[in-house]
Amino acid sequence: MYFFHQFIGGHWEWQSWGSSSSSSGKSGKSGSSSSSSSSDDDWNSNGSDDDWSGSSSSDGWAGSGSGSYDHDEEPEIIYSKGGSVAGWKSDGWEHDGHYKADMDYVRAKVVKLIEDSERELIPKFIRMGFHDCIGGCDGCINMDNPDNAGLMEAIEPLHPIYKEFEHSYSRADIWALATLVACDMSVLDDRPEGLKFPMRYIGRKDCEGSDDMGVGGPDPKLPGNDMPTHEFLAFMKDEFGYSTEETVIVMGMHAVAVAHRSNIGFGNIGKEDGWVFEAEEYKLDNRYYKMLLDKEWEFELVHNEGKIPNRYQWYHEQEGKDERPIMTNTDMGLLLDLSGHLYTDEEGNEGAVSCVADGSHHEDDGGDYLRRRTEEDKKPKTSCPVSEETKEFLEEYALDNEAWLIDCEKVIEKMLVNKQNVKKVAY
Ligand code: HEM
Repeated sequence: MYFFHQFIGGHWEWQSWGSSSSSSGKSGKSGSSSSSSSSDDDWNSNGSDDDWSGSSSSDGWAGSGSGSYDHDEEPEIIYSKGGSVAGWKSDGWEHDGHYKADMDYVRAKVVKLIEDSERELIPKFIRMGFHDCIGGCDGCINMDNPDNAGLMEAIEPLHPIYKEFEHSYSRADIWALATLVACDMSVLDDRPEGLKFPMRYIGRKDCEGSDDMGVGGPDPKLPGNDMPTHEFLAFMKDEFGYSTEETVIVMGMHAVAVAHRSNIGFGNIGKEDGWVFEAEEYKLDNRYYKMLLDKEWEFELVHNEGKIPNRYQWYHEQEGKDERPIMTNTDMGLLLDLSGHLYTDEEGNEGAVSCVADGSHHEDDGGDYLRRRTEEDKKPKTSCPVSEETKEFLEEYALDNEAWLIDCEKVIEKMLVNKQNVKKVAY
């Protein structure tokens, strides 16, 4: 997907080509001529169907859909949890250099945390960013929800940074910045010119009801691990205003992900396998798409202990490789349409699948893989149908790492302002 600007209905909107279902979320719905500057970045209004933006005025806050700031008008002041002001200082918004100095300092602190962790914090910050922004990026995670297991490892190290800067930024701002820094540091090779995952929006408001570290508070519904394609696309559209293409783009972040069996129950015991080979390099590129499209995927039930449910997962085994990458059913839904094929097995394990990924989506191999499988398998199952809607984007991005990284930067930025009234800062 390549974004371009188009003047529509009296204001600039971000459009994409290559997608028939271009997101409504990118469009600036300023409705106010004073705030409809044609700044390059006006799509930050984000969010699903604008249900959260109604309260905003035309003062240039992202929630109003503009993202530009009218310097004559004093911006709304957003208070952080302790009552101190987030993103606003006595000398005003217009002194962007002032914020930049602080922001550079915070960024450097996050970089150091990641370096000290030998990059292990990269995937943790990114996953935290996603989970925090479901229901709105509000700087809290409800750890009673088992699907958030493991996120304390991201929350804890950021707490001292938040405490040091709570006069300037909300916790949600710090978390968003950590996510962006992690994304930035995960790009190791072939960085497109200008790609830097900048922090251009601040002023996110922290939730109520959590502790000072951000643990507790609201418990929004998280997307499931066993969602069929259409259900998942609908969830991401409702939640983030993501188009089909944007959902495919954001899921590519699993290139840096590792599954820890003791958290959610996916993965392999004693190993930290991810969604791609060499997952522990935490390297952001388009390998996720290549894995889905090019590899042979088998299906298994993973037995877990204690409260962690057994999980059905897809795995890929390759001779000579110790790693065994996995996919959840929701990931696989970007390639195969599992609707009507997902069921709960007789032992109550969710996510069983009644069809096989038999490689019939491989157009080039003439179905060899399918024939091999059916000879081996005494009871051949139906081939899982291809999810045509999403597969076209898998193919596009599998071929073009640079395009994916560029689009990914925008899609992540959009995620990180979800359902928040944020203010654009020049950075
Ligand atoms: C329905 C959608 C998604 C599902 C079902 C899903 C599922 C999972 C699961 C089961 C894990 C393993 C967690 C663990 O074992 O610690 C995981 C890890 C991860 N996910 Fe997702 N995920 C989804 C969407 C996303 C998105 C949109 C992003 C990025 C924006 C993301 C980024 C990550 C990262 C970076 C990790 C690695 C965390 C770590 O290594 O500690 N995920 N995901």
